[in-house]
Amino acid sequence: MQDIKPRDVQVASVGAGDTSVVRSRTWERLKFEVEYSLQRGTTANSYLIQADKTALLDPPGESFTEIYLQQLQQCINLSQLDYIILGHVNPNRTVTLKALLELAPQVTLVCSKPGAVALRTAFSEQELKIWVPRADETLDLGQGHQLQFIPIPTPRWPDGLCTYDPKSRILFTDKLFGAHVCGDEVFDENWKLLDEDRRYYYDCLHAAQYRQVEAALDKIAPFRAKFYAPAHGPIVRYSLSRLTHDYQQWSQQQTDKEMSVALIYASAYGNTATLAQAIAKGITKAGVAVESINCESAEPAEIEAAVEKCDGFIIGSPTLGGHAPTQIQTALGIVLSTAAKTKLAGVFGSFGWSG
Ligand SMILES: Cc1cc2nc3c(=O)[nH]c(=O)nc-3n(C[C@H](O)[C@H](O)[C@H](O)COP(=O)(O)O)c2cc1C
Repeated sequence: MQDIKPRDVQVASVGAGDTSVVRSRTWERLKFEVEYSLQRGTTANSYLIQADKTALLDPPGESFTEIYLQQLQQCINLSQLDYIILGHVNPNRTVTLKALLELAPQVTLVCSKPGAVALRTAFSEQELKIWVPRADETLDLGQGHQLQFIPIPTPRWPDGLCTYDPKSRILFTDKLFGAHVCGDEVFDENWKLLDEDRRYYYDCLHAAQYRQVEAALDKIAPFRAKFYAPAHGPIVRYSLSRLTHDYQQWSQQQTDKEMSVALIYASAYGNTATLAQAIAKGITKAGVAVESINCESAEPAEIEAAVEKCDGFIIGSPTLGGHAPTQIQTALGIVLSTAAKTKLAGVFGSFGWSG
C-alpha cells in the first residue's frame, strides 16, 4: 500500500510579513466531494493579517480543528483576535468556528448578508457578533490594511465574499482560482504544472456557474491585485494574469457550446446540491454547457430566461415534510408556463423514506 503522509498544518509568510497563510494539508484523496477525485490531496487555506487589529480568514473544516488551533495559537494569542472573515459559510466549518469562539469570544464575524443568515441558523443557541459590510464599507485593521469586500454570489455559494487588502494587494478569492493539490509550495512558482489541476478545478466547481464567474471577474478586475489568495492550493503570484485570462476563456467556452442544459435545484442540507454538482460535472464532460440555478437564491426571471434558452432542463429536489420545497414548486410553475413541450427534461432527488 502507498504510504500516505498524515494531515498537517503549514504556516508561511505572504506579502509584507504581517500576513500569513495557514495551510491545513491533506495528502490523500477525499471521497466526499466530486472534485477531489484527482487524488492529489488539497489544502484548506486560512489567512491571518496582523496589524493594529488582527483578522483571520476562513478557518478550515472539522477534520483539522485540533491541529489547526494548535498552530494558530503559536502565531497569535487568540484573546487578541479581533475579526474572523468568512468567504462563505460552510456547515463543515462550524466545529472549528465554535472552538475558536470559545477561545476568542470577543471576535466579530464578518460575512455577507446570506452568510449571516446561515451563521445564525448554525449557531441558533448563541449570540454572535456579526458584521455585514455594506458596499461602501471597509474594515480598517491599521497600518494601511483597510480591507474592502466584494460579494460574489454563485448558485453553489450564494453567500460568497471576496476580501481585498490594498496594503499587501492580496485579493482573498475564496473558491475562485484554487486548485486541489497538496505540496510544500506556498506559491505557484511551478504554475505550468498546475494547468491541468486548475482546469479540472474550474470544470468541477465553476463551469456550471460560468455566468456568475464572468460577473465576478468583472467585479474584481478594478482592484489590480498582485496576489490571489484562494481557499485551496497554491497562492497565485506568478501566473495571476494568465489564470485570470484562463478563467475568462473557460467561461467563454461554456457560452460558445452548441447545446446547453439548465440544472435547476434546491437543497436544504446539501445532499441534492452534491448530486447536482456530480450531474453538472458529467454533462460538462460530455461537451454540453450547464447553467446551474439554485432556486433558493435565483430570481424567477433568471429561471425563466434559462429555461427558454436551454435545449433541455433537469430539476432536482429533496423531499421535506412529504413535499418538494416551495422554491422548487415555484420553479416548476415557471417551467410549465415557459418551456416548449419538445424540450428534453430530467429529474433527480434526494429523500429519506417516502420518496
Ligand atoms: C425536516 C426534514 C424533513 C424531511 N422529510 C422527509 C419526508 O417527508 N420524506 C422523505 O422521504 N425524506 C424526508 N427527509 C429526508 C430528506 O429528504 C433527506 O435528508 C434529503 O437527503 C435532504 O436533501 P437536501 O440535503 O438536499 O436538503 C426529511 C429531512 C428533514 C431534515
